[in-house]
Amino acid sequence: MGAFLAYILVVAAALCGYANSQLVPAIMTFGDSTVDVGNNDYVQTVFKANHPPYGQDFSNREPTGRFCNGKLATDITAENLGFTTYAPAYLSPQASGKNLLVGANFASAGSGYDDNTAALSHVIPLSQQLQYFKEYQSKLASVAGSEKASSIIKDALYLIGAGNSDFLQNYYINPFLNKHYTVDQYSSYLISIFSNFVKSLYGLGARRIGATSLAPTGCLPLARTIFGQHERGCVSSFNTDAQQFNKKINAAASQLQNQLPGLKIVIFDIFKPIYDLVANPKKYGFVEATKGCCGTGTVETTFVLCNQKSGTCSNASEYVFWDSVHPSQAANQVLADSLIISGISLIG
Ligand SMILES: *[C@@H]1O[C@H](CO)[C@@H](O)[C@H](O)[C@H]1NC(C)=O
Repeated sequence: MGAFLAYILVVAAALCGYANSQLVPAIMTFGDSTVDVGNNDYVQTVFKANHPPYGQDFSNREPTGRFCNGKLATDITAENLGFTTYAPAYLSPQASGKNLLVGANFASAGSGYDDNTAALSHVIPLSQQLQYFKEYQSKLASVAGSEKASSIIKDALYLIGAGNSDFLQNYYINPFLNKHYTVDQYSSYLISIFSNFVKSLYGLGARRIGATSLAPTGCLPLARTIFGQHERGCVSSFNTDAQQFNKKINAAASQLQNQLPGLKIVIFDIFKPIYDLVANPKKYGFVEATKGCCGTGTVETTFVLCNQKSGTCSNASEYVFWDSVHPSQAANQVLADSLIISGISLIG
């Protein structure tokens, strides 16, 4: 993190006056593998990252269920906001008692805005993540007391990372969808779910909400391998689709901001930073941006393919992607820096 940013955060922490100098009391997270910290370990699915080499660059080399060699962008963001522990995966045994005071993570790899996306992978649909959040609220009230619980709920940061799986693991490969709906129609459908989800969170007390845009999905190694046979670079049609979706989600967020009094909402643009990393890896100190570190780097992700037998590159810090879909911890560091810049208005 740059010195200037660190300075802003220190000043902001002092102004907010949290005893433990966290900028927000808690973080609640919803969505897919970009933000899941291990809920899928407790779900019957092959979309798990609870085995080596996932987590190999944590100091204890522990695979936690994160789809990364180390920290997710949202882990680094939590550290940047002054947290010394991460909010637990809601389905894990750690999600109890005082641990709930810093929030909870409801995300599930393979999930999306469209509940059918989650159904295809047998993971936790977004609608169920919301139900778990309601359950969390009553648990929090019994740990913290109802007054403190409401203030935590109101001041917490809510993060949503979803949408990429709806395209890569559903729309593009599901003839029932792509034969009957245009990309534009499907995007609008997803955005209507996003808007309703934000309204539900708001109705449950949330006031600070950040959601990530879509990534340049056409630049993910998996997309290049499976859909890019005739193209040398990124799959440009996928990137165009992602940019159209991103326009819509930004418009929806502005509308929600106007409709819901007291709501602060930000769309974190992850398209541009990931696109820049892929286009100019050397500028950011990376060596490889076209394939992931795990296995051949072209198709491997999840339990089935990125595993102890598939092997890894010698230094994941030189790779933009850890597996064929997910950024490495080193790339997540770059993303987290850009998240904190665009998210500063959420924590003021
Ligand atoms: C891995 O690569 C990073 C980035 O180039 C570098 O800073 C680090 O020293 C390398 N680590 C090893 C063990 O070579």
